[in-house]
Amino acid sequence: MRGSSLLVGLAALSGASAQLHQLATRAGLLYFGTAVGEGQINDGTYMRYVDNTAEFGQLVPENGQKWDSTEPNRGQFSYGSADVVPRRAAANRQILRCHALVWHSQLPNWVRNGGFSSSTLQSVITTHINNVMGHFRGQCYAWDVVNEAVDDNGSWRSSVFYNTMGTSFLPFSFRAARAADPNTKLYYNDYNLEYNGAKTNRAVELVNIIQQAGAPIDGVGFQAHLIVGTTPTRSQLATVLRRFTALGVEVAYTELDIRHESLPPSSSALARQGGDYAAVVQSCLDVDACVGITIWGFTDRFSWIPGTFPGTGAALLYDDNYNRKPAWTSVSSVLAAAATGAPPTSTSTSAGPTTTGGPTTTSTTLSTRTSSSTSSSSVPTGGPEQVQWGQCGGIGWTGPTRCASPWTCHYVNDWYSQCY
Ligand SMILES: *[C@@H]1O[C@H](CO)[C@@H](O)[C@H](O)[C@H]1NC(C)=O
Repeated sequence: MRGSSLLVGLAALSGASAQLHQLATRAGLLYFGTAVGEGQINDGTYMRYVDNTAEFGQLVPENGQKWDSTEPNRGQFSYGSADVVPRRAAANRQILRCHALVWHSQLPNWVRNGGFSSSTLQSVITTHINNVMGHFRGQCYAWDVVNEAVDDNGSWRSSVFYNTMGTSFLPFSFRAARAADPNTKLYYNDYNLEYNGAKTNRAVELVNIIQQAGAPIDGVGFQAHLIVGTTPTRSQLATVLRRFTALGVEVAYTELDIRHESLPPSSSALARQGGDYAAVVQSCLDVDACVGITIWGFTDRFSWIPGTFPGTGAALLYDDNYNRKPAWTSVSSVLAAAATGAPPTSTSTSAGPTTTGGPTTTSTTLSTRTSSSTSSSSVPTGGPEQVQWGQCGGIGWTGPTRCASPWTCHYVNDWYSQCY
C-alpha cells in the first residue's frame, strides 16, 4: 500500500477532526484538492475554505485557462481570468493543476469553424500551447493537454481537431506541450473512463497511439463525474486505474463529484453518496500510481451539475450552507484509516493490504458490517456517543461506536459506518 506507517498523531488524525489534504498526504497521496470557480474569488466565505491548506492542498481553475478564455481571438491572449486561481494557489503554496489546452468545448468559433487545413491547425495548436503553457511555465504540477477526445460510445469524438488531423492531433499536442514546458506532467483527461467500457478501451488506445508515436504522456485524469448508486465499486475502479498505470502513466481523479439524480436527497441517499465517495478514494489509495484526488468544487452552493443536468445535484462534500455532508465524513474517514491504519511493520503478518484492500488493521473491523449497534470493539458500552452523520465503525475506527439518540449506526462499507 501507499507509504506511511505513521502511527504518530493518530488521535489528531481521527476522521472527525483532521482535514482532507492533511490526511491524504499522510495516506501517501500527493494531494487532495478542489476546482475553484473564478466567479467566487471575492466570496469571503467560499475562499476561507479554498485557503484552508489542510483541507485542500491543490487547486485547479474551473474555467479561466480554457481556450475561450485565454485566446478568444486568434493570436490575442488574455490571462485576466486565467491568472486568478493560479495566483491564489501560489500565495497559499498549493499544488496547481492546469486545465485544459486542446478540447472541443469552450472552444472559440474562430478555431471550431475556422476551416483550417491540417498544417494551419497545427500552427494554431502550437501557438496556443506555447503561449498558454509559456505563461504558466513552472507553475503547474500537471496540464490537461488533451481533454475528452473520446465520444461517449467509444468512437473518436468528432471535433475540429480530430476531423482535420485524425488521431495525429494527439501526439502532436503532447509533443508541443513538452516543448513548451518540460517540467510539468502531461495528462489526457476524460469522463466515464471509470466504467471500464468501450470509452475506456478507446482511451487505452489513445495512450498507446501517443506512446507509439514517440510522444510524451505522463498521466491520465479520471474526471469521475459520477452518480449516486451507479458508481463502480472500489475494486472495479482500481482495476480500471491499473489498465492505465500498466502503460507506465500515473493516474488521478481530476473532477470528482457524485450527483443525486433526484433532489433533495434522503438520509439514506446521502449515506449512499458517502459510500460511493469512499469507493473512489479507496481505489486511488489502492493504486500506487494514483497520485491524488480533485473534487470539482466543494460546496453544493456552487456546482456546474444543476445547470448541466437539471433536476440533479447535491454532488459535493459540503451542502449549500457549507455544512459537511456525510460524504465529507466518509472521505475523511477513509483517508484517516489509510493514514493511521497501517499495522506496525515489526509484527510481520500483515502482508500487503492492496488486494482485498486498504488499511489492514485488525479484528474490530467486521463487527461493524452488520452494524446498527456495535458489539465487540474496544469501546465499552456506555462510552462516548457519536453525533448524527458521524462515523461509528469501520476498519481501523477506534472512535465511538454508539450513536446519540435517536440515530443508529448504519453500515456503509467495510471502512465506514455512520450515525443517522
Ligand atoms: C457515437 O456517437 C456519435 C455522436 O453522438 C455519433 O456521431 C457516432 O455515429 C456514434 N458512433 C457509433 C459507432 O455508434
